[in-house]
Amino acid sequence: MKIAVIPGDGIGPEVIDQAVRTLHEVAPAIETSYFDLGARNYRATGRLLDRETLHEIRQHDAILLGAIGDPTVPAGTLERGILLEMRFALDHHINLRPTKTMPGAPRVLAGDANLDLLVVREGTEGPYTGNGGALRVGTPYEVATEVSVNTRFGVDRLLREAFERAAVRRQRVTIVHKPNVLAFAGSLWTRAADELATLYPEVEVDHMLVDAAMLHLVTNPARFDVIATDNLFGDLITDLTSALGGGVGLAASANIDGSRRNPAMFEPVHGSAPDIAGRGVADPTAAILSTALMLHHLGLSHEANTIDQAVRDHVASRGQQSCSTEEIGEQIRSRVGSESLTPPRRRPAASS
Ligand code: IPM
Ligand code: MN
Repeated sequence: MKIAVIPGDGIGPEVIDQAVRTLHEVAPAIETSYFDLGARNYRATGRLLDRETLHEIRQHDAILLGAIGDPTVPAGTLERGILLEMRFALDHHINLRPTKTMPGAPRVLAGDANLDLLVVREGTEGPYTGNGGALRVGTPYEVATEVSVNTRFGVDRLLREAFERAAVRRQRVTIVHKPNVLAFAGSLWTRAADELATLYPEVEVDHMLVDAAMLHLVTNPARFDVIATDNLFGDLITDLTSALGGGVGLAASANIDGSRRNPAMFEPVHGSAPDIAGRGVADPTAAILSTALMLHHLGLSHEANTIDQAVRDHVASRGQQSCSTEEIGEQIRSRVGSESLTPPRRRPAASS
C-alpha cells in the first residue's frame, strides 16, 4: 500500500512526522511518498495544487494531510487552492468526524457525558463550491453572494452514508439543517431524509434546527449518535464536537469518495496553528488518530485498533500535564508495542 503524505503548513509537518512514525510502527510495509504543498511551495513556485501533482496523488491508496493555511499568504488562497481543491477533485463528499470521549481527556465543557457520536458532514456542496460573486466591490453599494449548492444527488449520497453508519451504531440519525429559514435547501434535505428513512426502518430519524443543535450539543450531547449535515453547518458543528471530545488536539477526520474511485484523505480537524508552529508543542494526537482512521478505511483494522488503544492508554495516563510533540508521539509509539507488528505475509518496508 502507498500513502501520499502532505505535511502542509504550520504545525502540519510536526504532527505528521509523529503520525507517520506511528504508522510505520504498526505497518512497516506501507510505503509513503511526500508532497510539498502549502505556503512554502506556493511562495517558491506560485503553484497551489496542479494537475500533475493531483495525478500523482491519485496513484496512492490514501492521503494523510497535516494542515493547510499560512498567515503570510492572503487568507483562503491555500485553503481553497489546495485543501478544498483536493476535496472537490477527489470527490470527497463524505466527511466523517467522530467524537468519542477518552478517559482522562481534558474536559473542555461541563458535564461528564460518555460520548460516542459521529458527524457525517457533506464535503463537496453547500456554500463551499465557489458559486457566488461580488458587485460594485469597494463601493458603499457592494453586494456579495455565496450560494449554497444542494443537489438531490449530493444530499442523497450523503444521507445514505449517514444511515448506513447509524445502522451499525446506535440506530439514530439526526438531520441538522435550517429549513425554517433556508427554505429550498432545507426542504430538499428534509424530503430526501424522510424518503430514505423508509428504507431503514430500524434507524430512528429526527430533524433538528442547527441553532437548537448547538444548544443540545452543549447541554445533552449524549442524545446524539449520527449527525448528518451540510458542508458549512458540519464545519461549525465539528469544532464544537471536537471541544466535547477533549479539544481539537484529539479530533480526527476522514474525507471519503463513497464510490472509492479516488483515494480518501485523512487529516486532523485542527488547522495549521501558526502561533505555535515550529516550537515542538503541538499535540500530534489528532494526526495519529487520523492515521488510525486511515488504517480502518484501508481494512487494516488490527493496526488501526492498536493505535486507537495506544492513544487511549496514553491519554488516560497523561492527565493534565503538558508534553512536547515528540514526547506524546514517543509515548504513544511505546504503547503500540511489538505484538502489533504487521504479519509477515506483507512485503518488507520500502524506504520513503
Ligand atoms: C476544516 C477547515 C476547512 C473547512 C478550511 C480550512 C477550508 O476549517 O477542515 O474544518 O472549512 O472545511
Ligand atoms: Mn473547520
